[in-house]
Amino acid sequence: MTRLLITGGKLVNEGTLSEKDLLIKSGRIERIEDSISPPSGTEILNAEGKLVLPGLIDDQVHFREPGLTHKACIHTESQAAVAGGVTTFFEMPNVSPPTLDMERIEEKCSIAQRDSLANYAFFLGASNENLEAVKSADPSRIAGVKIFMGSSTGNMLVDEETVLEGIFRNAPTIIATHCEDTPMILANEKQARMQFGGEVPFSEHGIIRSREACLKSSSMAVELARRENAKLHVLHITTKEELGLFAPGDSRITAEACVHHLWFEESGYEELGSQIKCNPAIKTEKDRTAIREAVKEGRISVLATDHAPHTWEEKQNSYFNAPAGLPLIQHSLLIMMEMVKQGCFSLETVVERACHAPARLFQVLDRGYLREGYWADLVVVDPESQTVVGDSQLFSKCGWSPFSKEVFSNRIDFTVVSGQVAYRSGELDLGCRGQRVNFPTSRR
Ligand code: DOR
Repeated sequence: MTRLLITGGKLVNEGTLSEKDLLIKSGRIERIEDSISPPSGTEILNAEGKLVLPGLIDDQVHFREPGLTHKACIHTESQAAVAGGVTTFFEMPNVSPPTLDMERIEEKCSIAQRDSLANYAFFLGASNENLEAVKSADPSRIAGVKIFMGSSTGNMLVDEETVLEGIFRNAPTIIATHCEDTPMILANEKQARMQFGGEVPFSEHGIIRSREACLKSSSMAVELARRENAKLHVLHITTKEELGLFAPGDSRITAEACVHHLWFEESGYEELGSQIKCNPAIKTEKDRTAIREAVKEGRISVLATDHAPHTWEEKQNSYFNAPAGLPLIQHSLLIMMEMVKQGCFSLETVVERACHAPARLFQVLDRGYLREGYWADLVVVDPESQTVVGDSQLFSKCGWSPFSKEVFSNRIDFTVVSGQVAYRSGELDLGCRGQRVNFPTSRR
């Protein structure tokens, strides 16, 4: 039986900070106590002066496999995940071919079983044509159903009203939506072409992918969920107006915010241009402030990344040809902790929104908390050491980061995935493998 003892750390869990030892046996947390003497043969990790958090559950990532592996793959991106303290990821269906039925889900799970250092689950994608596959999906084997209610990377727009109604009425799990109104965006693109020709500045992105387009689509999703009594999670909120659609404490209609929308605002386009082009777009400073406040008050229940790597070469194209999305997962916890330092919200709130809430919302079994009997997914952070981005390796296959040279005030020391030390002082254990996440059979 392999045992691991984490000693002397400050556990941040379920709203409290407490100094405790934590004993792991056969992948699960066996005991959490003030002081534990190690049974013989136990490996000891000294966490004195360090923070011990549950591993993050990132409910929105794009790892590009199968079909887009020139950008990224499950093996490389799961390395970036564990180096960043993310122990579980839910991956999106806009790969090639898109993940539109259970057979594709199982294919992706076999790749992950072979290659992933982190725990994993995959979203079933919806399309205008696969309502039957959505209806008959096995809720215990998917993260949820993803609907692109606005077009983005990939060709997965669902815009037929009767199909949308059918999905909201019949989806056997939580529905996660990308909300931007495509006709409004197309009209704005036409306008921008008339104004700027081929040379549209990246700073126009938030005007083209407008706040009105976000609000219209998010409002429609919320209305459909209410009417059809569906469980809805609106991904990556970017405007203050949309926040009015959600209420703190509501467990059926929820919203997510992503680290780049909390970190950057429109002035960043000047220096970073295409590097921060993403959908929905980064908007104004007022929006950023309102979203940070909503994270604090619980109107936003989940913090995630929408990690979306593209190659540096692809990103060098002009506005219409540069793809949207940026690599984020290796630095998401450090970004959140930097915002804690800036006074945006507390560390306990980060743990609630990035670890506990995704576990609760998606009904993940036995993960997301530091609890006896739960899987040992955790991250040890040194609050006394810094991280200079780029000094150590970037594990994402695309090899670039919008945070290049940024200095973060914390350092990730260890990440434990299902009881295995997957990341230790800058080094990965490439032999570590995550597990498929389990969900209950009834989830509507
Ligand atoms: O910026 C984005 N990139 N937003 C999305 O919705 C998709 C993602 C991607 O897959 O590149």
